Amino acid sequence: MTSERSHDSLPRHVAIVMDGNGRWARKRFMPRGMGHRAGVDALVKVVQATAARGIPYLTVFAFSSENWKRPEEEVSGLMSLLLVALSKHLARLSADGVRVRVIGDLDSVSERIHHALREAEQATAHNSRLTLTVAFNYGGRWDIVQACRRAMRAGVAPEALDEATLSRHMAMADTPDPDLFIRTGGEVRLSNFLLWQSAYAELYFTDCLWPDFDDGELDRALRDYAGRERRFGDVGASGQGDAAVGLGESPVEQGDR
Ligand code: FPP
Repeated sequence: MTSERSHDSLPRHVAIVMDGNGRWARKRFMPRGMGHRAGVDALVKVVQATAARGIPYLTVFAFSSENWKRPEEEVSGLMSLLLVALSKHLARLSADGVRVRVIGDLDSVSERIHHALREAEQATAHNSRLTLTVAFNYGGRWDIVQACRRAMRAGVAPEALDEATLSRHMAMADTPDPDLFIRTGGEVRLSNFLLWQSAYAELYFTDCLWPDFDDGELDRALRDYAGRERRFGDVGASGQGDAAVGLGESPVEQGDR
């Protein structure tokens, strides 16, 4: 199926909010931590499926700036799970050509976690098939604020600050913006993920709980994406018809909303 798609209909960058681990566990009368463990297994499979489909960038929301509000037991469980997941899966993913990168405020996570994440980045830095960016202690507003601070520290004058300059100081500055933003778990919101970078991303929401998200669900999202018309503020192919019959000089001047 994937090979039938034209190159443009395949996103270069997919971003995912992996929601629904807790509900997945509750439905099975299991502790929430079991849902997160199943979530790691789903993530590994989705990374492999994304690479197999020739998509070069995948970014996932592993731990948000707001997740510290969860019960201490769940937070420490997620931290331990991250370490276990790296030791269990990193070598395999690296052998499959996956490069791991991390975005987020690592200054306020434990030394152990910080070190493990940086080590994963270094160990996989030579890979180029798929870049897996893990957002950890990340928030979209934090990212915008840290970009402003970095630009100011670099001596950018207020009048010189424009979108391109700020973009260069955002996390993932060297990565194309997400084309497809997926959220599992039934909630229809962005939850402070990649706010700047997702300005023109196609949004896809599914009720599927994250641990159940598999190759088939990924393909469903990709098919949906392939059917979207991306206009980036222009009128797009369907709008050209109106212009051709003289319905206006410029039907959309202020950008696509
Ligand atoms: C949201 O589900 C999910 C998370 C807060 C964490 C996502 C993490 C993974 C998939 C594992 C990989 C990451 C680490 C850190 C090891 P939820 O708990 O909010 O689910 P609910 O809405 O059903 O309660």
